[in-house]
Amino acid sequence: MFIDVHCHLTGEEFLSVGGVEEVLRRARENGVDRVICSGFDLDSSKLAKALSEKHEDVYFCAGFHPSELKKYREGDLDEIRFLCEHEKCVALGEIGLDYHFDDNPPREVQRELFIRQLQLADELGLPVVLHSRDAAQETLQILKEYNGLLKHSGLMHCYSYSPEMMTDFSALGLFFSFGGPSTFKNANKVKECVQRIPARLLLSETDCPYLTPVPYRGVFPNEPKNVKYVVENMAVLRNENVEELKKQIIENAKKLFFKLK
Ligand code: NI
Repeated sequence: MFIDVHCHLTGEEFLSVGGVEEVLRRARENGVDRVICSGFDLDSSKLAKALSEKHEDVYFCAGFHPSELKKYREGDLDEIRFLCEHEKCVALGEIGLDYHFDDNPPREVQRELFIRQLQLADELGLPVVLHSRDAAQETLQILKEYNGLLKHSGLMHCYSYSPEMMTDFSALGLFFSFGGPSTFKNANKVKECVQRIPARLLLSETDCPYLTPVPYRGVFPNEPKNVKYVVENMAVLRNENVEELKKQIIENAKKLFFKLK
């Protein structure tokens, strides 16, 4: 059994490969037991919810990604709250900070909505799925300052900062997931993180439709079925038995996302 704890299945990217139904069928065929489809704005969160209602093995999270905040309108968080109350919503996300591109939303706006969504997750009793790019120190600083809002924990998804910072983030009680980049040839930093992380904090994802893992790197779109290449590679990197690692990842996912399910 595999689990893809972070994927985006609501876009049109999958039309060229038979549509999302086919994508899910291929995932099942390849042993993927559950997927968590992540929202990144209001529309994608609604679509993720609809997909979860149609498929037993699809769960979702709802939230505003920092790069998508240009679309944010006052009142949208009330709608996110409503979506988060759905029985198949397992987390609030993805949320965080993204300072990568100059034309990303202003940093103050990102910080404000990040904190408000942390507060909302705490009120709802949900974990958070965190996206952080080129903003390691500030993300850490906010999470430390608002540590009281992380009672239901969270996931650093597609973790790509240093192994040293991983220690700081894990001190906040967070989990970590890795995807395609951990299979890339020159990704030494990410590989070191995969090797150093305690097994009890490790999760697997694809972040599809992007970041297709080796041996299909470069193929678009990526799909949840490819999560097996991520997990198999993690087992090699960690010098662990792949079946044991698969079991551990399912345990971790249950602990973080499926407490009541
Ligand atoms: Ni994502």
